[in-house]
Amino acid sequence: MTNAEAAASGEAPANSGGGTVPRHVAIIMDGNGRWAERRGLPRLAGHRAGAEAVRKTLRAAADSGVEVLTLYAFSSENWRRSDEEVSDLKGLMGYYLERELTSLAKEGVRLQLIGDYSRFGPDLMGRLDRAVEKLSGNRRLTLVVALSYGSQAEIASAARSLAAKAKAGEIEVETIDEAAIAAELQTCDLPPLDLLIRTSGEVRLSNFLLWQAAYAELLFTPVLWPDFDEQAFRDAIGQFAARQRRFGGR
Ligand code: FPP
Repeated sequence: MTNAEAAASGEAPANSGGGTVPRHVAIIMDGNGRWAERRGLPRLAGHRAGAEAVRKTLRAAADSGVEVLTLYAFSSENWRRSDEEVSDLKGLMGYYLERELTSLAKEGVRLQLIGDYSRFGPDLMGRLDRAVEKLSGNRRLTLVVALSYGSQAEIASAARSLAAKAKAGEIEVETIDEAAIAAELQTCDLPPLDLLIRTSGEVRLSNFLLWQAAYAELLFTPVLWPDFDEQAFRDAIGQFAARQRRFGGR
């Protein structure tokens, strides 16, 4: 069941068969800068180590049976960072794509992008689109990368789209409900979010998946993102399994 379908049915979103493995896990990968700083290294070294953590986490997620892994790689607020850091991050994403494409294909990973990634310019955007296309037939795990993503902007865009449809007479204003909004979000075809993890000890959502996190379990860990690995992911899944999800019921 997708986000939109769950909202339409009024049913509580459930992870796979009510089982203990979350279908959809999202991660706010935080702490690259502090990891580098503690080692007297430039921030780029932290982001490079962060890209390695992405590789490990992806493997652990696929092995655990998670269907969707959504990663917050670049927020709409990250544009406020120095030109040098933005350029480093863009370079790293291009490099990661190039280097990992074959193994992503081999591991059955499908790639999906959310956010206004056209802001990265035609070169990186074209490479990202080609990677999405190349991996589109895969089914083992969907990797969703949030790039130049902001949840409030995503919700505002959904509101604009519905308002335009109402103005054009395509829908009645009264029919705009939770399902209608969920269907306009970039995540509409994904299963509901079960588990949202943030690393580095910060305890906030930072404009990430605000709508989608309505019933998600939240997990905040002090581990800095570059130190997050297969075991850390399995621990997180274990903590999720131990939680009781009631979706507002008793
Ligand atoms: C937050 O750490 C991390 C980021 C803004 C970038 C995340 C990017 C990666 C992990 C690398 C590549 C990603 C992919 C998908 C290949 P921070 O810099 O805010 O750390 P700090 O709070 O300690 O300064």
